[in-house]
Amino acid sequence: MKKLILLPLFVAASVYASSLGFNENRGVAPVTDKFYIKECASCHFAYQPGLLPERSWVKLMKNLENHFGTDATLEPQDNKKILNYLVDNSADKFTNYKRSAKINNSIGGDETPIAVTDTRYFIKKHREIRQNLITQKEVGSLSNCMACHTTADKGSYSERDINIPNYGKWEND
Ligand code: HEC
Ligand code: HEC
Repeated sequence: MKKLILLPLFVAASVYASSLGFNENRGVAPVTDKFYIKECASCHFAYQPGLLPERSWVKLMKNLENHFGTDATLEPQDNKKILNYLVDNSADKFTNYKRSAKINNSIGGDETPIAVTDTRYFIKKHREIRQNLITQKEVGSLSNCMACHTTADKGSYSERDINIPNYGKWEND
């Protein structure tokens, strides 16, 4: 009997909670580590740790002297500090964040991409964008998340916050 009374209450409470955004984290966890921002966001956007799984970060941090054509080497103790932060917050640990889960699930077990832009989920989501909107000087490449996702620094990549330079809002249909 008790259960029958409590069930509708529970359903109502969880509908209310999700309307407030408590139950679902639709994006990825925002970057919190100041040292990470200092060391890893001087050349580009501070990619959230939840955009790649642990094995990707391990591989990327092992080869900083040859980092996408540049040298981003760190002192060993700094490398370790950043690696720990990345691993602790990687996509495979943060699967309660919808985008982290989707990215992680799109990577085959035998693959270790070191670029978010190389993951299947990312490629699928971006393949309809006209090439000249990507190569234009205001964007440059798909690695430049903030150029189109105005709230990327908050870990939010939702469609309503997309604004592509010289194009505007993204209409899916
Ligand atoms: C000296 C400049 C420099 C520094 C410092 C640097 N990077 Fe990069 N990184 C690049 C370049 C260049 C690319 C290629 C993409 C681009 O053109 O922005 C890149 C790409 C990446 C990508 C792939 C982005 C994609 O396309 O999906 C990740 C992830 C990344 N960097 C992580 C890091 C991390 C973590 C650190 C700190 C340990 C770091 N970077 C420090 C220059 C740098
Ligand atoms: C040229 C503009 C542009 C750039 C640069 C760009 N994106 Fe996007 N992104 C889009 C558009 C447009 C969509 C919507 C695709 C769709 O749902 O049809 C999208 C979708 C997404 C989604 C899925 C959101 C959803 O609600 O389905 C994620 C996650 C995402 N982008 C992450 C990134 C990350 C991370 C970067 C940088 C590494 C990036 N994007 C760079 C334009 C861009």
